[in-house]
Amino acid sequence: MAVRRPQEVLIREVGPRDGLQGIPRVIPTAQKIAFVEKLLLAGIKAVEVTSFVSPRAVPQMADAEEVVAGVRHLPGGLAQKATLSALAGNLRGVERALAAGVDEVVMVVSATAEHNRANTGMEVEQSLSQLREAVALARGTPLVVRGAVAVAFGCPYRGEVGLAEVARVVEAMLEAGVREVTLADTAGLAGPRQVYGLLEKLMRLFPEAPFALHLHGAREVTLANLVEGLRAGVGVVESATGGLGGCPFIPAAPGNVATEEVAELLARLGIKTGVDAGKLRECAAWLRGVVGGPNGTP
Ligand code: COA
Ligand code: ZN
Repeated sequence: MAVRRPQEVLIREVGPRDGLQGIPRVIPTAQKIAFVEKLLLAGIKAVEVTSFVSPRAVPQMADAEEVVAGVRHLPGGLAQKATLSALAGNLRGVERALAAGVDEVVMVVSATAEHNRANTGMEVEQSLSQLREAVALARGTPLVVRGAVAVAFGCPYRGEVGLAEVARVVEAMLEAGVREVTLADTAGLAGPRQVYGLLEKLMRLFPEAPFALHLHGAREVTLANLVEGLRAGVGVVESATGGLGGCPFIPAAPGNVATEEVAELLARLGIKTGVDAGKLRECAAWLRGVVGGPNGTP
């Protein structure tokens, strides 16, 4: 069995965005900033701090500008040692991200028309054309634009998603000039063989492309999926502390793979992340107190 497992992996924490976006009770801005501070103190080097989307669509993210400003001013220059990113679903979101001064914006486009409509109200082609405009907008500024392919491993509105559908979006993103492409199992439908198979094929089609993996689902399955992603050669993993999370536009969306478990698994595999799994466990316990029960239920 060929092993291309990397020696070092970047863990990108998406808890402050993906983890919190579906929680019905609006978390105070100060607690979101405190969450990011704890993550940075645990050694997290890349964090998706919020999303610049419609506050009507996702009320939890209405304070995006304030969160970014608060994180930027954390004591000890903490935020300056990390990469702060934010999600956008349209060009307006990218404009807001640029004005707010995040380091990176990730624009999400779904592999299927059905999920793209539910998530962004647009056709896939419209989203891709806004992505091209986003890259043009960011040119000459410090803002880095990344792309994320939602429902890359299966779509609850459609079922199976074919290689061609994913490859079409990946190709358009790379042609637009994104820095990296995240493959997201938004609905938690992937299995280990599928993760390896898709990544392997995409890496063959796009040998220069840096890919990240974004996983949702049951603990056992996501960790197996992660191992297969690493074996295929992925160098960036997205996860949420406490295993919170889920897309509000997917019925009964499962949580993200938990960052503390990713950090521990990677440590046991001898892969360096610079992240302290013990501190993340403390952060996860604190977070449970902030949000209440699973995904905000009391
Ligand atoms: N930031 C702030 N407000 C925005 C916005 C943005 N990026 N994009 C749109 N809006 C506002 C519009 O001004 C409008 O406000 P109004 O109702 O007060 O007039 C409203 O959102 C609807 O905008 P419209 O252009 O008619 O689009 P829509 O109703 O089809 O919704 C999105 C499209 C993109 C705004 C919406 O689907 C969205 O924000 N989705 C969030 C996706 C997401 O976060 N998913 C989870 C992560 S994958
Ligand atoms: Zn997600």
